[in-house]
Amino acid sequence: MTAAVRDYSIVGPERDQAVEAGRADGEWFQADIDPARMRELTQRTNLRPAIDMVIWLGLAIGLGVLAWSLRGSWWAVPAFVAYGAIVGGTSDARWHECGHGTAFRTSWLNDLIYYPASFFLAREATYWRWSHFRHHTDTIIVGRDPEIVFPRPPSLGAFALTYTNLVGGPTLMAGTIRHAFGRLDDVTHELVPSSEIRRVVWEARVYTTIWMATIVWAVATTSLYPLLLIGGPTIYGAWAMVFFGATQHTGLREDTLDHRWSTRTVLMNPIFRFLYLNMNYHVEHHMFPAVPYHRLPQLHAEIADQLAPPLPSTWAAYRQIVGAIREQSVDPSWEIDLAVPDVEGARGAVVQGFEWPSGDGAEVIVDVASIGVGEMRRTQIDGASVVVCRIDDGSLHAVASRCTHGDAELADGALIGCEIECPKHNGRFDVRTGAPTRRPVSEPIETFEIDGSGHVSRKPSSQKAAKP
Ligand code: FES
Repeated sequence: MTAAVRDYSIVGPERDQAVEAGRADGEWFQADIDPARMRELTQRTNLRPAIDMVIWLGLAIGLGVLAWSLRGSWWAVPAFVAYGAIVGGTSDARWHECGHGTAFRTSWLNDLIYYPASFFLAREATYWRWSHFRHHTDTIIVGRDPEIVFPRPPSLGAFALTYTNLVGGPTLMAGTIRHAFGRLDDVTHELVPSSEIRRVVWEARVYTTIWMATIVWAVATTSLYPLLLIGGPTIYGAWAMVFFGATQHTGLREDTLDHRWSTRTVLMNPIFRFLYLNMNYHVEHHMFPAVPYHRLPQLHAEIADQLAPPLPSTWAAYRQIVGAIREQSVDPSWEIDLAVPDVEGARGAVVQGFEWPSGDGAEVIVDVASIGVGEMRRTQIDGASVVVCRIDDGSLHAVASRCTHGDAELADGALIGCEIECPKHNGRFDVRTGAPTRRPVSEPIETFEIDGSGHVSRKPSSQKAAKP
């Protein structure tokens, strides 16, 4: 039987087909969860991620120093293998969580880890930020998702080759060098807004400069060790990234708007969960990306009865993956038989603490006494969805609930300090001004008048804040 081959390019004919079929930027299944509990689960902290990151950085630096000091000895081999796995492999989970901005409560701490982790993986920081936004918008939608790692029909040979990163690593590096010279392809223009293109080019130049300097160092010292320390882990340590990452979506359903069919949750041991930052709860992460990694086990406990049963171990996940690759290499339409519960789910589950106005709807009176610090409620004015919230200094604010980036209600996201975070791609707005404060959002949201007795109304003129 000849396997049907689909075009997985995000600038090819499948892109248009996905849009026409309504699969692009679609409305996804969301599990039902108590809004108050969700608010607890989206709370951020700096302490827990700081502990995790210090351990991780300590491992990376300690193993690097150890490997370097063992140069010339066979003991350097296992030391470099371990160093490469930490730097070139487990950076992936740090890159991912800090890219979402959900690891640390403080934004700049996320960036402090995100940028070096991006370099360790040879992922251009801005380019891949936008790639991952798209992955979350259109997860495993063919023609839309740029992060489908194993297109169908798969093969066990290609699957095994991925662990070496001998194709993927050099491809990424070559693409970065092209960007450094200002050569940007259609995929880049499809993903990255034109306002960020300059940034992509300059980041590529920084990466390229570091790689070139490392090569010069290696040539000058006639030694391969500098390359094993810098740049090399992207390739020889990537197996640790693939080992965990392959469990996320491999072999599962394409073109569905329900993460329960396209994404896998696997129960892993505590060491794996540390190295992978709990991304084994991947269905939960995709469904609620505003929940930080360290609260995913609790989220899992809340919604497990609405999901397919998790795979009981990494071994079980690999058995399922290898079986699926075998089947799909012959018949690409073959599906894994999942026991996804037939439940309705929910959208817009935030408690609405408002009283409907008796007038024409241009004003609403909300029960502000019921809104504590860090809490928010949704109401409506003139048919527009509005979030009323109380920030850390006790002040009340009201802003449009509709995200300016895509199909999402900010009321379903998280309130962090004076910023409201979108539940879909973790973009943020300052609720005091409506200004966008975190990508991918770039357009401000409308702000509304609110007084101490709960009267919310439109401001007399357009109140959209300027971009920062
Ligand atoms: Fe993308 Fe809101 S929909 S950040």
